[in-house]
Amino acid sequence: MGVSALGYIGLEVADLGQWRSYATGFLGLMDVSQSDTELRLRADARAWRISVSQGKADDLAFAGFEVRDAASLESVCDSLNAAGFAAVFDAAIAKKRGVTGLATTRDPNGVPIEIYFGAVESFESPMVSPAGVSGFLTGDQGLGHIVLYVRDVEATKRFYMDGLGFRLSDMIDMEIEAGRSLELTFLHCNPRHHTIALVPAPMPKRLHHFMLQVDSMEDVGLAYDRAERTGVRIAETLGRHTNDHMFSFYAHTPSGFQVEYGWGARTIDKNWAVVRHKKPSIWGHKSLSD
Ligand SMILES: [Fe+2]
Repeated sequence: MGVSALGYIGLEVADLGQWRSYATGFLGLMDVSQSDTELRLRADARAWRISVSQGKADDLAFAGFEVRDAASLESVCDSLNAAGFAAVFDAAIAKKRGVTGLATTRDPNGVPIEIYFGAVESFESPMVSPAGVSGFLTGDQGLGHIVLYVRDVEATKRFYMDGLGFRLSDMIDMEIEAGRSLELTFLHCNPRHHTIALVPAPMPKRLHHFMLQVDSMEDVGLAYDRAERTGVRIAETLGRHTNDHMFSFYAHTPSGFQVEYGWGARTIDKNWAVVRHKKPSIWGHKSLSD
C-alpha cells in the first residue's frame, strides 16, 4: 500500500510579501496565516495546503504525501526502508504541520519528503477564495501535482515507485533541440493523471512547477485575465496537454519556478495502460519565456 495523495507542499521564498499577494490575488488561495514568517494557504476544507516561508532558496522546501491511517504510514516506511531509503518518525514536525502521525525522509535529489496521516479538516469554516475562484479540485486527487528536476531518474523512480508506491502513467519525449529529446516521466498514486513528474535535467532548482486544478474553464480564463491585470508574467499560453488533457496555462511565480493553472484533466482508472507521447501539448502552451 502506498501514499494516497499529495497533501501539502512547502515553499521557501525570498519575498514573502510578494507571495502573499500572488497567492491570494492571482491564484485565489485563502490566506489563513497565523504568523508573519509563514504564509499558510487553503484551497479546500483542509486547514492548509501550501506553506510559504521566508528564505533564500526560492524553491520547493518539502512535500507532504498523505496516507489513510497509521497502518499505512508504517507500511510506506517499511517499503521505503526495503528500497534503501531511511524514514524516521518525527513528532515535532507532525505538530508543526498539524497532522496526527508523520515520518520524514529525503528523495534522491535531497527534497525533504513527509508522509503523514490525520490532517485537520475545517468544514465549519468554509474556504472562500479571495479572487472568486469557484473551487479547487482536490479530494481523492490531492492538492495537485509537482514537476521536479532530477539528476538520477532511475534512483528517483525507485524512491517514488518502490518506496512510496507510485505507478507509471506515461512518458513524453520532449524535444529540446533538433534530434535531442528528454524523457519526462509521469507518476500517479490516485485518479489524478500525475501527482509527480520527473524532468531528467540537473538544474539549480528542484521545482519546475506545481499545478492547481480549478473546477471550471471560466476559473482558468478569469485567472488568465487576473494575470494580465496584476502584472503576473505568463510563461506558457493557454493549451491542452497530450497526456492528462489538462486545459491550462503556466505563469511565473515571484520565485522563478512556475505554476500551472488548469481545468478538465482526464483521470486514471483500472484500465489505464502506459503509453508514450511525442509532444507535451495537443495545441497551445506556447512558451513566452525570455
Ligand atoms: Fe503540470
